[in-house]
Amino acid sequence: MSIPSDLPARLAEALGPSAVITEGPDLEPYAVDWRKLFPGRPACVVRPSSTDQVVRIVHICREAGASIVPQGGNTGLAGGAVPDASGTQIVLSLTRMAAVRELDAVGMTIEAEAGCILKVAQDAAAAVGRLLPISLAAEGSATIGGVVAANAGGVNVLRYGMTRNLVLGLEVVLPDGTLANGLRRLRKDNAGYDWKQLFIGSEGTLGIVTAAVLRLVPRPKHSVTALLSVTDPDAALRLLALAQDDLGDQISAFELISGTSLQLVAKHAGLKAPIAEGEWFVLIEAASSLAGLREAAETMLGAAFEREIALDGVIAESGAQAAQLWALREHVTESEAREGKSVKHDVSVPLTAVPRFLAEAGKTLAAGVPGTRVNAFGHLGDGNIHYNVLVDEGHDAAIVNRIVHDAVAAHGGSISAEHGIGQYRVGELVRYRSGAEMTLARKLKRTLDPGGLLNPGKVLSP
Ligand code: FAD
Ligand code: MLT
Ligand code: ZN
Repeated sequence: MSIPSDLPARLAEALGPSAVITEGPDLEPYAVDWRKLFPGRPACVVRPSSTDQVVRIVHICREAGASIVPQGGNTGLAGGAVPDASGTQIVLSLTRMAAVRELDAVGMTIEAEAGCILKVAQDAAAAVGRLLPISLAAEGSATIGGVVAANAGGVNVLRYGMTRNLVLGLEVVLPDGTLANGLRRLRKDNAGYDWKQLFIGSEGTLGIVTAAVLRLVPRPKHSVTALLSVTDPDAALRLLALAQDDLGDQISAFELISGTSLQLVAKHAGLKAPIAEGEWFVLIEAASSLAGLREAAETMLGAAFEREIALDGVIAESGAQAAQLWALREHVTESEAREGKSVKHDVSVPLTAVPRFLAEAGKTLAAGVPGTRVNAFGHLGDGNIHYNVLVDEGHDAAIVNRIVHDAVAAHGGSISAEHGIGQYRVGELVRYRSGAEMTLARKLKRTLDPGGLLNPGKVLSP
């Protein structure tokens, strides 16, 4: 496929020359994904500053037969936001559309443009005493549009749900250039199809998100953060059950971290856990606006030691210490990347199946691909484990994937809990989703994007 050679010039004429990057070092960050697994070659990068400009770009690209790859902060871990190597795809970066348009502390909503950095939106909410409860290690670079398009998860899902649960309204430019404005701030809205759900988690393949209204929640006044070591994942689940019994809905994060993860963080980020070394750890956070949380958490943790569920542990004595404990968790991904090659798996299984899944996948992997190391960690409270396998150069990723994903399927799980399919898992999706589900997905894609303009080759094979 080819595109008119003057397409970048046409875009520059319509949007102004500063909105289009055609070559040089400025282009590079848009061409390759965060893990540097999928180097691409865009025809150009176009950076609109308004929704109207996005509409114009779609019309111009459609007319020219050029496909569009929407991109936010480019922190995605599935290669969804980068173009292929054909030199014919346009990267549409939303990063210049970064405004917080409206903040309603009483109605508890925030309206932000797609390119608004997640942390900026969180801070805006915090400034009026509210919480935007989407929290992930990439929040300093990930954008609202990317978070919505990926239906991001993160560490607070067990209490507040995935991004989908927090989206009240969306503004989307469709592949035919139509602007669908559903930027409503309503908690209840059953007037017709809830079409915005189609675009949440669609990874830029069905429409371009230009703005979103997100639900905020009251900002808890008190929080308790603790890091505990446990003998095994089964003990971690027993700790979760105890925490659910004693702290109920005040648990806002329950993260499983393996000893390997903490070793990587110590080696590459220079951060050391303030408790004895071990095989498995749990980082737990509870938050509430009512007094008495710390006492309740201390009682619960005391019971965990008494019943020998926890081996060692520390409760943060200050906000700074809590941040230090969180830093251990937040540096796992970056430290793993520094260690070398890894085959990432972002899987979920029913919560109670997590220990069996970990044991079985570990055993089959050790037998099938000797010499690999497993860096397992993740959002245990949601049954979501990042089962990342550290491998040598020249490894066979396909065998590793097969072993891990077959174990996931055997436990009724999903091959992507939160990172999405992108281009990284396109082949795997076909294998693990039923034919009827894949046909339905293709019908939806064809209906909304018959010309295959948006992000071809992502989620579904072209
Ligand atoms: P991008 O990477 O730019 O894009 C992601 C996808 O959305 C692509 O398919 C892209 O085409 C599409 N897209 C982007 N913007 C738009 C738009 N405006 N309209 C339509 N489509 C669009 N993810 C989690 O879910 N939980 C985690 O805990 C988590 N932790 C992470 C930690 C680290 C260190 C890193 C590097 C990543 C992590 N991620 C996590 C993955 C990533 O941060 C999220 O998927 C995030 O939502 C991506 O936002 P982004 O703006 O960078 O999107
Ligand atoms: C995280 O939870 O830190 C990321 O989603 C995980 C990853 O790097 O696999
Ligand atoms: Zn995660």
